[in-house]
Amino acid sequence: MTRIIADDLCVWKRLRRLCAGMAAPMVLVVAPGLLSAEEGGGHYQLHGDVVEIAEDGIHDPDNDAVNTLQPPADAMKDFPRDSRGIINWVETLDRGLIAPRTGVTGDEKMHSVDFDVIFKNTASMPYVRFPHLPHTQWLTCTNCHPAIFLPQRGGNFVTMAAIIEGEYCGVCHGKVAFPPMECNRCHSVARENVGLR
Ligand code: HEC
Ligand code: HEC
Ligand code: HEC
Repeated sequence: MTRIIADDLCVWKRLRRLCAGMAAPMVLVVAPGLLSAEEGGGHYQLHGDVVEIAEDGIHDPDNDAVNTLQPPADAMKDFPRDSRGIINWVETLDRGLIAPRTGVTGDEKMHSVDFDVIFKNTASMPYVRFPHLPHTQWLTCTNCHPAIFLPQRGGNFVTMAAIIEGEYCGVCHGKVAFPPMECNRCHSVARENVGLR
């Protein structure tokens, strides 16, 4: 456990330094080396990683269940992965490779909504598309509203530094959802004025 926390912190610190006043093309060159298995990448079980359940820092190694659970490398071997080798859970769900229960009993109804919010305060990076649909296929409204985000377009002052510190999007991204190193999965909308200043 401690190992993973220390490793994550190290990665976040480097990222924050990178993001502070950086030029986008520079980061795109540097980014591919950021998330090695030794630096907390094991937490996401990158493609090719085989991390024993008892040693993953997530499960209790003293609980007998660690001997009966199917190893992730085996259970998830056919799941789609993104450019960094991290499982793309959105695509995994879309393709019907998994069918998560909606709650403890499985009878609960998911309340999904389909609308996007575009964040445009992205300096030289492409804009950020926040899609409600994939989020509300996993989460409920109150997971985010109002504690993390006031449900009001432009109503929250979100910065990259805050995300890396674990606030706003960073409450989940970097912990239970793909990490902040995956710039292009959030910064996915081309700027209207590409090449202009
Ligand atoms: C989980 C989604 C997410 C990821 C991944 C992500 N960003 Fe961001 N980023 C945001 C949001 C949201 C904002 C705030 C935009 C706004 O307020 O309009 C932002 C803002 C920024 C800004 C504007 C200045 C600032 O500091 O806020 C820069 C530059 C930036 N991101 C760079 C990056 C880089 C480089 C990466 C990859 C190393 C990255 N971002 C990954 C969501 C993300
Ligand atoms: C993963 C977090 C998350 C979840 C879950 C979520 N939202 Fe949002 N919601 C956001 C973000 C981020 C914004 C944009 C806030 C901003 O622009 O500062 C937003 C904005 C909104 C807005 C304002 C839209 C506008 O045009 O002003 C409404 C309404 C809203 N959400 C409703 C919902 C409802 C209803 C649900 C559940 C079905 C839901 N949200 C689930 C993160 C979430
Ligand atoms: C309460 C938790 C939570 C918060 C807060 C949150 N996300 Fe997510 N996000 C998820 C989960 C869970 C997924 C699906 C699993 C995954 O992709 O790792 C996801 C997936 C996504 C995707 C992938 C969509 C796709 O089609 O591949 C994008 C883009 C995204 N989030 C952007 C954001 C941005 C931008 C913010 C902040 C404005 C944000 N998220 C805040 C939990 C969250």
